[in-house]
Amino acid sequence: MCGIVGYIGKKPAFPILLSGLKRLEYRGYDSFGFFVLNKNKPFLFKKVGKISEFEQNFPNPDGEIGIAHTRWGTTGKISEANAHPHYDCQQNIFLVHNGIIENYQEIKERLIKEGHKFLSETDTEVICHLIEKYFERNLEEAVRKALREVRGTYGIAVISKKDPQKIVVARLSSPIILGINKDEFLVASDPAAIITHTRQVINLDDNEIAVLKPDGFFILKEKPLETIEWKIEEAEKGGYPHFMLKEIIEEPEVIENAIRGRLIIEEGSVKLGGLDSVSAQLREMDKLVLVACGTAHYAAMVGEYMLEEYAGLPCEVDIASEFRYRKPVVDEKTAAIFVSQSGETADTLAALREMKKKGILTIGITNVVGSTQSRETDAGVYTRSGPEIAVASTKAFLGQLATLAMLTIYLGRQSEMSLVTGKRIIEELAKLQELAREVLKKAPEIEKLAKKYRNFKNFWFIGRKYNFPIALEGALKLKEISYLHAEGIAGGELKHGPLALIDENFPTIAICPSDSVYEKMISNIQEIKAREGPVIAIATQGNEEIKKIVDDVIYIPKTLEMLTPLLSIIPLHLFAYYMAVLLGNDVDKPRNLAKVITVE
Ligand code: G6P
Repeated sequence: MCGIVGYIGKKPAFPILLSGLKRLEYRGYDSFGFFVLNKNKPFLFKKVGKISEFEQNFPNPDGEIGIAHTRWGTTGKISEANAHPHYDCQQNIFLVHNGIIENYQEIKERLIKEGHKFLSETDTEVICHLIEKYFERNLEEAVRKALREVRGTYGIAVISKKDPQKIVVARLSSPIILGINKDEFLVASDPAAIITHTRQVINLDDNEIAVLKPDGFFILKEKPLETIEWKIEEAEKGGYPHFMLKEIIEEPEVIENAIRGRLIIEEGSVKLGGLDSVSAQLREMDKLVLVACGTAHYAAMVGEYMLEEYAGLPCEVDIASEFRYRKPVVDEKTAAIFVSQSGETADTLAALREMKKKGILTIGITNVVGSTQSRETDAGVYTRSGPEIAVASTKAFLGQLATLAMLTIYLGRQSEMSLVTGKRIIEELAKLQELAREVLKKAPEIEKLAKKYRNFKNFWFIGRKYNFPIALEGALKLKEISYLHAEGIAGGELKHGPLALIDENFPTIAICPSDSVYEKMISNIQEIKAREGPVIAIATQGNEEIKKIVDDVIYIPKTLEMLTPLLSIIPLHLFAYYMAVLLGNDVDKPRNLAKVITVE
């Protein structure tokens, strides 16, 4: 998400930081900032917007030590005050941070009581004040003590005016690499930022602290030098040939980010701070409408199954462009939930405004912090999926599903969901990122399948219940980027028409995990096989029987039925990706499509 660059050496730091930040632009950001330490006049520069908007008027500060950051807001709105670097009360400690500090509220309250003054709404600022609290003379000592108190994830780079001539760097579950050159050292969250300066790097490990000085560096443990082989273009996509693949690979991390700090296992419940202001009102609701477009609409459909089964709330799901022109029957006991990656989709916003006019409670499930949707809804939950660059949405879908699962627990526990059920879902949710990583290991297998099926022109995707929307999403992904004809249908609808098209040239991808509708799916597969249609099954690990019926199987690990969509969609994203690559298409920018649809 956010990007970090730091430099210490004999050259002016600013141009190096600037070029590093520009190489991180591909990650997406909403604001940026620099701190350069110059003996006479330390230089701090923070702005909201893109670097290119200000570049003509950039100052050129002196100083051979500096840190810089691109921010993609998650905690606190998009503003100069919330942009990094952040600093302490005495303006001694300057710091850039990637990650999320989960316990920042409690630390902040404590530090305020101790007299610290906060200037931003970010979680990051608490680290500056904690370092200030422990600072005596030695920066790394203070950093070490401060980090003992924080929970969450971080990659940080810190400079102190009172202990100059060094950058202190630390990480926990947020990537940090050190670039090693003769007489100069760099730090970055991503190789793209430093690759033009050096290819000799050290990957910092969790809980390690490194100190970079103009004449050398040290880490608490000996580490081997490594060489980066990536080309510049690859580095800008995190080492992947396309953003889409990078974003699919990030899917486990997206689940992790969505749930981080939000699950309360012992209470079988979740903490969704963005809903606090409306929690009493939500308790009164007897109907939900979920409104969205495209992939987000399919996430909402999965949400409908979750919310009805586990929160016992009647749900209605609609496409925003239809909903806004219908005369939906809603009343003061209806809450409208809008699901959108960008938070800027015109039809979704129009539907939102319609509901506001009627005085309906509006909730947003949004990825982009500060987007129109997040500003205009009464309350909401951020999905924290990070910037999604490829036009075809992949990882954002996982963030939406994980958030809808948490919303289900939140609403369910307010009404009829038992503690045991709440705990059960939470425990499975917490395991899901690992299971998703298992699915990603099947990428080579899925690439082989794509090679086998690349010459077919038509595909059915079938699923039932929770995996019916996954059939729709799998088909959408394939048609969007491979330009092949693909349709998603509910298994039960096969007999009502689609079966007429089945023959040996019309393959079906059947999503059939071992769940409550498994037997029904097997009947559907048999109907297809009886007409010689090739079938690829997405089945649960351990189901050997299915191999006897279908042509190919991709296995996914077992999880709760309601959470299977978070695993079953991953092979379908990969399948669409590999098909499009094999067909030579522009995967990240498919023809005729756009990432954000701001017109009706
Ligand atoms: C466009 C994008 C899709 C996305 C849809 C809804 O069509 O190409 O990937 O699913 O808009 O966008 P939203 O930002 O509202 O989720």
